[in-house]
Amino acid sequence: MHPLLADQEARAREVLPAEVHAHWAGGSGEETSLAEATAAWRDVRLRPRVLRDVSRVDTALTLLGARLRTPVVLAPTALHGLGHPDGERATAAGAARAGALTALSTRASEPVAADPWWQQVYVLRDRARTVDLVQAAAARGARALVLTGDTPYVARKARGDFGPQVDVPDAARQDPATTLDEVGRLAGASGLPVLVKGVLRGDDAAACLDAGAAGVWVSGHGGRQLDRSVAPARALPEVVDAVAGRAPVLVDGGVRSGLDALCALALGADAVAVGRPVLWALAAGGADGVAACLDALTADLAAAMALAGAASLADVRGLADPRGPAGGA
Ligand SMILES: Cc1cc2nc3c(=O)[nH]c(=O)nc-3n(C[C@H](O)[C@H](O)[C@H](O)COP(=O)(O)O)c2cc1C
Repeated sequence: MHPLLADQEARAREVLPAEVHAHWAGGSGEETSLAEATAAWRDVRLRPRVLRDVSRVDTALTLLGARLRTPVVLAPTALHGLGHPDGERATAAGAARAGALTALSTRASEPVAADPWWQQVYVLRDRARTVDLVQAAAARGARALVLTGDTPYVARKARGDFGPQVDVPDAARQDPATTLDEVGRLAGASGLPVLVKGVLRGDDAAACLDAGAAGVWVSGHGGRQLDRSVAPARALPEVVDAVAGRAPVLVDGGVRSGLDALCALALGADAVAVGRPVLWALAAGGADGVAACLDALTADLAAAMALAGAASLADVRGLADPRGPAGGA
């Protein structure tokens, strides 16, 4: 783990109410997937290139039309107001300062607009609420929707369930009847491209694209939904193969350093998202904390790219060893 992230996590543990810390840190089941998500990045092996000019390393990219200084994206996480009085406003301000993309949760404490930003969508039992959510997001300048596909029901958390999530009224709960048909409906209602988040299989990734998805987000929901689901680092190569360059692929789960991010990009991801590190950064230092966290991850990524002989994100492709434990075979 990057030392700044470790410091922010320790600080957050001191300042947060114990039940908020447990809710944010924890996972479902026996927390097997939670633990493996982080560990699996360390199983990736890289094949660095030698004698490339890496005097300048560029981490910039364009993602679905948005120009970003870093491929490190803020994963959508609920209720930032639990950790800081300025909630999502502080998170979005910190992300914008770092040149990073923010994905805002359906369960945000307040609707904000970052620059640039995507709206994460849970399809709710009350469909009219969902349509309101995506149309309001489009009006506030969201560039895309992220349809989370792994949460027909919210899984029970190993460290206990947390009040505000349990108290959601029935109409505002996720609709377990949601299918891939929703990709087209949400795109039609909002006029925005729709990515699907929570994909852990190549055949599912292909089905999402067939249904009109503009991108695929490999994720195990931070180990908070189906426990014993495969680590995102292990699922990523299969998804990248299935997508075959037709659409961007994002990945999250256990990314805690620039080297973790490099491994994800080397396995073929276009961008890498972080969930808990941003929550700890927010609790530890508000907008400044979030900007510092993202800047540190980006600088750490650039340093790792230089050592791998990659001056740009395009050079990172193909750096993973396919024989590595998480790279296939
Ligand atoms: C406290 C918490 C709340 C979350 N809320 C959401 C959410 O509202 N929507 C969603 O799609 N994912 C949600 N996630 C999952 C994250 O988007 C992301 O997949 C995960 O946190 C990445 O793993 P990491 O925390 O190890 O970086 C949440 C995760 C956490 C830890």
